[in-house]
Amino acid sequence: MIVLVGFMGAGKSTIGRLLAAKLGLPFVDTDPVIEQRAGRTIKEIFATDGEPAFRALEHEVIAGLLHGPEIVLALGGGAPEHPGTRQDLKQAQVVYLHVSYEGAVGRIGADADRPLLAQPGLLARYQRRLAIYTAVATLVVRTDGRDPDSIAQDILASLTVG
Ligand code: S3P
Repeated sequence: MIVLVGFMGAGKSTIGRLLAAKLGLPFVDTDPVIEQRAGRTIKEIFATDGEPAFRALEHEVIAGLLHGPEIVLALGGGAPEHPGTRQDLKQAQVVYLHVSYEGAVGRIGADADRPLLAQPGLLARYQRRLAIYTAVATLVVRTDGRDPDSIAQDILASLTVG
């Protein structure tokens, strides 16, 4: 199982799709799976149930996917904050797509679909997560100023496939 983690705007979906195509594996992004399961958007789940409820649902969805067939899986930026998810990730190859805070903010802009951008404390959240991403990662790849295809090539060269 190949899992991509990193902050919002790191390029998890773009690079995950490229990687999956190169490996001939399906690509799955957890965010839309959570939305399908809940029948609501992530923004609505945050607004009505709050972040802890979102994290619990996110954890369940990820655990299910990690126990299923081989895929390339992109996690939402906050997913590794859940201790249960960190535990489940121990059986996967986990690629941390590192993006600087400035790089992330530049890429995500003012995306109205990402509820955390409307909350204060984004920088503190970014800083807190750096250690978490590093702890779960089996491979760290820097993404600032690089094109997605060469990042995907680098990852491919470092993966244990099979
Ligand atoms: C979140 C990141 C989002 C999404 C939700 C919360 C986070 O996913 O899961 O808005 O806590 O960083 P992306 O990283 O794909 O934007």
